[in-house]
Amino acid sequence: MDVRSLGYVVIESTEPKKWLEYGRDILGLMPATTMPDDGNVYLRMDERPFRFAIVKGERDRLRCCGWELRDQGDFDAALTQFAEAGVAVTVADDSTAKARRVKGLASLQDPSGNGIEVYWGAELDYARFVSPLGIRGFETGFNGDMGFGHAVLPASRLAETHTFYKELMGFGDSDYMHFKFSPDPDDKGQGLHFMHVNNPRHHSLALYEDQENSLGCVHLMVEVHEVDEVGYCLDRVEAAGIPVVSSLGRHTNDHMLSFYMATPTGFAMEFGTGGLKMEWDNFTPTVTSLPSLWGHKFAMPE
Ligand SMILES: [Fe+2]
Repeated sequence: MDVRSLGYVVIESTEPKKWLEYGRDILGLMPATTMPDDGNVYLRMDERPFRFAIVKGERDRLRCCGWELRDQGDFDAALTQFAEAGVAVTVADDSTAKARRVKGLASLQDPSGNGIEVYWGAELDYARFVSPLGIRGFETGFNGDMGFGHAVLPASRLAETHTFYKELMGFGDSDYMHFKFSPDPDDKGQGLHFMHVNNPRHHSLALYEDQENSLGCVHLMVEVHEVDEVGYCLDRVEAAGIPVVSSLGRHTNDHMLSFYMATPTGFAMEFGTGGLKMEWDNFTPTVTSLPSLWGHKFAMPE
């Protein structure tokens, strides 16, 4: 499978309006102009009609990640591969695909239960992106082909889930880290796989070994072009009283200069700049023992 990018996320929220305010007033995302007025919240960051869909629901959680395929041939081949692997897939009807602004759409779950959508034929609306906060742009590549950023998802079955993305969905390994938070010799710690798809972003997905995560997400990341925009956002976050989950720092593996904040759903949002752009043909996956060169002091809100 040749997954091209992480195109969008769908977030289930008991109060989508909170995401409208947070996305617009803190992140600087643009409320979508070409999406239907259906009670859901759609947020844009580039020429894609939306990157964040926040749908009204019973729970607050990340519902799924949307992974982009190149064309109908790749989409049909993916459906065959999922079927051969015994993975249950629901192919969406035309109206559901249309609601996502794509030609073809299917949904499934990874072995840890994270929601996945695969799609092809994404529309560009070319409606001018105007950040309500004057952000010049977000780093998403040409026509958005680097995807909106990255997602770190909980994986209760880490090894199986890693194999699923690697062997079945064709993701590549970028880096691996292992965390151990206690001195207990019986504590095996937690693994964290960083994975890339077929674009230069260092990782579009990371899988974190986590048995208990009802939110369906550890964090999402969006990237801006300029370091000052990270600083301005940090000021907005502090002024709004939003918990800073991690202080400013620079990551070792993707060189992202970023901080992390709480979102209305409870998982974190990483807001950064300067992430590496890789050429995968010459890349060898690494194992990293330290998450950050400096900074990134984590303090989870109670
Ligand atoms: Fe991240």
